[in-house]
Amino acid sequence: MLPRCAISVCHVFVLVLCLSSAEDFDWTKNDHGSFYYGTFPAGFSWGAGSSAYQTEGAWDTDGKGLSIWDVFSHKKGKIQQNDTGDSSCEGYHKIKDDVGLMKELKLNHYRFSISWPRLIPTGIKSDHINEKGIQYYNDLIDHLLESKITPIVTLYHWDLPQFLQERYGGWQNISMVNHFNEFANLCFERFGNRIKYWVTFNNPWSVAVEGYETGEHAPGLRLRGTGAYKAAHHIIKAHAKVWHTYDTQWRAKQKGLVGISLSGDWGEPVDITNQKDIEAAERYVQFYLGWFATPIFHGDYPQVMKDFIGRKSVQQGLGTSRLPSFSPQEKSYIKGTCDFLGVGHFTTRYITQKNNPSGRSSSSYFTDRDLAELVDPRWPDPGSEWLYAVPWGFRRLLNFVKSQYGNPMIYVTENGVSEKMLCTELCDDWRIQYFKDYTNEMLKAIKDGVNVKGYTAWSLLDKFEWDEGYSERFGLYYVDFRNKNKPRYPKASVQFYKRIISSNGFPNQREVENWRRKAVETCSSSNQLLAAEEQRSTAANILRLIHDPLTSHMEMVTEIVVPTVCTLSILLSAVFLMFLLRRRN
Ligand code: NOJ
Repeated sequence: MLPRCAISVCHVFVLVLCLSSAEDFDWTKNDHGSFYYGTFPAGFSWGAGSSAYQTEGAWDTDGKGLSIWDVFSHKKGKIQQNDTGDSSCEGYHKIKDDVGLMKELKLNHYRFSISWPRLIPTGIKSDHINEKGIQYYNDLIDHLLESKITPIVTLYHWDLPQFLQERYGGWQNISMVNHFNEFANLCFERFGNRIKYWVTFNNPWSVAVEGYETGEHAPGLRLRGTGAYKAAHHIIKAHAKVWHTYDTQWRAKQKGLVGISLSGDWGEPVDITNQKDIEAAERYVQFYLGWFATPIFHGDYPQVMKDFIGRKSVQQGLGTSRLPSFSPQEKSYIKGTCDFLGVGHFTTRYITQKNNPSGRSSSSYFTDRDLAELVDPRWPDPGSEWLYAVPWGFRRLLNFVKSQYGNPMIYVTENGVSEKMLCTELCDDWRIQYFKDYTNEMLKAIKDGVNVKGYTAWSLLDKFEWDEGYSERFGLYYVDFRNKNKPRYPKASVQFYKRIISSNGFPNQREVENWRRKAVETCSSSNQLLAAEEQRSTAANILRLIHDPLTSHMEMVTEIVVPTVCTLSILLSAVFLMFLLRRRN
């Protein structure tokens, strides 16, 4: 037996180890630095991404079941312009074309997600497996591999089978853990011989907060102060279960890796000399990425979440915390269930301390954090309202991950910027700037010692942007959604990203400037091509309408043909009248 003093020395040692892993990060040192010319480590993987509901379309084709997003987007008033993902980019029918685009970019990997209800229409494996859905993903995977592009597969990018939502309440219910595990197991069984990178969940923060707290996303529930925490709790358990399933049943044979993709905005203290601001910024990050990463790497929720939500719950007269807790067995089962960490990152906020009232009626995930978010008006914000380009925040976040979670292997699973353009624009200079600066900050983070192995530009194509519909375009390739065939056109950023990939970084200033100049030059010809194509398809539509008696076209007939014919008749009558008048004179 160890003597008591040795035990307490051990305790102190363990305590110091635990504390130091969370204290490494230096909040007071934000070195923006200048642009860094250099290359990424050999073998660094460059990719682009997409997700099933956002790009596949074919919402009811070949036996696919309904997802919560099919149902949500069909409800009026939920999505900008009442857009839906019904046909989206028609990715389901365009495997060859899209893999062609990836080859053109010389991508090393492509990240896509599998639609659960396309494989299992009700979500319950014993009900029915849809072989046509399996076939679609087999084709996609085989095409990628033939083109030497590594598939990175996400199992859950938000499209829960609607049946599971209706029957059990979706992620509010613990039974999702088993159903999801069965679905994942099916994927390992059918695709695992060719897939080496699995992502269990994409951005569970959004699923929990926007799906079950604010209701902006499917399933649209507003269970403030509890819904998000409960959903997240079940998602973390489901992730762990799937990791164990792979670990015990498939890893030895398939030799793949299983991770999770967590999304995290960076939070920078407004005043880095003010301890309260530093604590508030840390809370912001812990309530975001830390909410999921801390249980997965350390076995339990961040202490600060337990403290804040617990204290507020008591003040609200509740017997237990609104944040659920894990049993000791669950903690050890969850801890360490991550072979690599997927990081999705887009933007940054300045954070300052702000006390929120703790009354029960005002309880929510947002008020639990006691902070205020600010932005610098000088930060560029070309597209989505929430997306400010702050490249240095990316390096800060990556270093935070390194210091908090023992320098895990990281794949950047999402990073990119949107544009809000009413007219067609392929010369996306601001996206070139965004990719250039963000990937450069990632390179600096690698020099800092962060273990980043790959980068995924978000996204390959313009696509359905959730509650924003098609109004926000994240793609490297422009998709003409008004054309039934959904043709794709390269934006200037395609040329630029291609150069980063082929040089594996940034050789020198002259060359990088040259890439940019050339990229912007080529896009003006693509712009003309697209404009000409649009004119051609409008003309073709009119001609088709004139010859096509189908009533389904009546609406367009009244919109385009009738006014045109009326205008022509008025013009002709005027000319005829003038002719008559002149003759009488
Ligand atoms: C993260 C989501 O995972 C992705 O689907 C979405 O397109 C981007 N955020 C941009 O909003």
